[in-house]
Amino acid sequence: MTQDNEKETPRLIRLEEVNSTNAYLHSLNQKERLPEGSVVWADFQTSGRGQIGNSWESESGKNLTFSMVFYPSFLLARRQFLISQVAALSVKETLDEYTRGITVKWPNDIYWNDKKICGMLIENDLAGEYIYSSIIGIGININQARFRGDAPNPVSLCQILGKEVEKEDVMHRFLGHVYTNYLTLMEGEHDATLAGKYLDSLYRKEGFFLYEDKNGRFEAEFAGIEPTGHLLLRTKDGSVRRYEFKEVKFVLG
Ligand code: BTN
Repeated sequence: MTQDNEKETPRLIRLEEVNSTNAYLHSLNQKERLPEGSVVWADFQTSGRGQIGNSWESESGKNLTFSMVFYPSFLLARRQFLISQVAALSVKETLDEYTRGITVKWPNDIYWNDKKICGMLIENDLAGEYIYSSIIGIGININQARFRGDAPNPVSLCQILGKEVEKEDVMHRFLGHVYTNYLTLMEGEHDATLAGKYLDSLYRKEGFFLYEDKNGRFEAEFAGIEPTGHLLLRTKDGSVRRYEFKEVKFVLG
């Protein structure tokens, strides 16, 4: 992904089984720095990791579970939300090629209507004030027909379309989108293009909905996202509340 002539071709490492593609990529990268944009893709994870210490359920061979590495050393750590935007938009643009109704639920879940089709776990290593490496772990539900775990609202592309989809095809399209969006970020065009596209893609962007924070439930409408990634919600009395990820939940119907 470097813009000069020394660009190394990203590696695609495909594994039958691994504990977690994020963990595997992280430890491999400590031994040999992989070319930027490299991907570790597994058919099955024995301990797939989700957000907030949760696990990630994915039936063997049915879905896409992979991680990729970037080195956005040009980005200040306090702008790391831009990486989330690149990753979320790239999955949304990929799934838009298969169905309508795909949105980004802040910060980086991907929804089809009110159901979750994709989750991400982004782990950044910092070097001082800047980002050294960013491992983006993505699970997209593709061909799983039934979900048995305790995730409240999962859905797969196959359930939406009523037919199975080639995982390789989805992966190929995703890589096209993510490399393009990452180059846009490298070129410094995020404010003009990525940020606008991310905002346009948001789940529950218009209207009042129920949310829940440490003080209980409340109704609010979307009021913006700060460059740091904080979510702004406006309550019916006009006051604006500011949240970090994990400080507020969207209450689903
Ligand atoms: C979430 O809880 O929504 C995040 C789920 C992230 C799952 C993906 S699957 C590939 C990568 N490896 C992991 O262990 N987790 C991520």
